[in-house]
Amino acid sequence: MASAARIVVLPGDGIGPEVTAAARRVLDAAVSRVGIALDYVDDVVGGAAVDAYRVALRPQTLRLCKTADAILFGAVGGPKWDDAAPDSKLRPGSALLGLRKGLGLFANLRPVRVDAAMVATSALRPERVRDVDLLVVRELTGGLYFSRPKRRYMTARGEAAVDTMRYSTPEIERVAVRAFELARLRRRRLCSVDKANVLETSRLWRAVVNRVAERYADVACSHMLVDAFAMELLRRPQAFDVVLMENLFGDILTDEASMLAGALGMLPSASLGAGTLGLYEPIHGSAPDIAGKGIANPIGAILSTALLLRWSLNQEDAAQAIERAVSQVLGAGLRTADIARDGETPVGTAVMADAIVKALR
Ligand code: IPM
Ligand code: MG
Repeated sequence: MASAARIVVLPGDGIGPEVTAAARRVLDAAVSRVGIALDYVDDVVGGAAVDAYRVALRPQTLRLCKTADAILFGAVGGPKWDDAAPDSKLRPGSALLGLRKGLGLFANLRPVRVDAAMVATSALRPERVRDVDLLVVRELTGGLYFSRPKRRYMTARGEAAVDTMRYSTPEIERVAVRAFELARLRRRRLCSVDKANVLETSRLWRAVVNRVAERYADVACSHMLVDAFAMELLRRPQAFDVVLMENLFGDILTDEASMLAGALGMLPSASLGAGTLGLYEPIHGSAPDIAGKGIANPIGAILSTALLLRWSLNQEDAAQAIERAVSQVLGAGLRTADIARDGETPVGTAVMADAIVKALR
């Protein structure tokens, strides 16, 4: 790696700037211990960019990201931009979709690990969530999000709309290969989720995954229908290791999975392509209702910096140091409002980040 790694920081909207600032402090503390330098470049995306430049993702922002080693992303969106003209470039979310597509980040890694200290905070009974440690690999640049046609149009009987779910063999194959490789680094089990009893794309998905599985005889491969998986995820989440699924299924099921970990604010994600460039973001949104109050949970963003160190900067030790520090602080009982139970006094974003920085030392 070059002397200084270049990190593009895109805080976005709502609580994005708060959690990103907190995450950056933790990242700085972690890299200072291993003696690598980071070169940060900030840019504006989402609603903030709509306000400043009339476009959610500027072409120069995408170009800047292509020169980066990694991108630290906050969140985008908010009521202010909700009823913007249907012009998709004015929708804050289009910044994120444009980055994923424009940077070729086809594999979205969403690890769901339930910290021992969080077992009692989960929406599920303790015995249901204890020792949960799974990794959702979500296809991120295809399916209903991106396939054409995608439009609203007028018919003689009123308006109609269409979205398209299309997957090609190479699109399925590359994300499946990534998921099998990841399974090899874990417990060597992979469950592919689809809707093969109804969808043609799912039948192709299953066939391609089975073909890839032949090259990974050391990984136990199974398949589950998406409705059954939604249920099994709550019934016996410990049964899963790597779970592979298409874009929309992954969007929906990772919000569900976050309830195992206690709150949406706990979960990090990494979006990867063929190389080492990655985009790292908490899976939560911009939470406009609590924006600017300094109470947002920064742990999803902080754990995203651990993924950044692991997958883009090849700094496994520093990544684990952050994960241990988060675990230590949770173990000590520190809670932000979203994960505080009755009788626990919540701390704010900055106090939580400070404690994690301190635990790193
Ligand atoms: C996510 C988000 C995004 C998605 C939105 C903001 C476009 O929900 O990353 O899960 O649907 O992918
Ligand atoms: Mg989502």
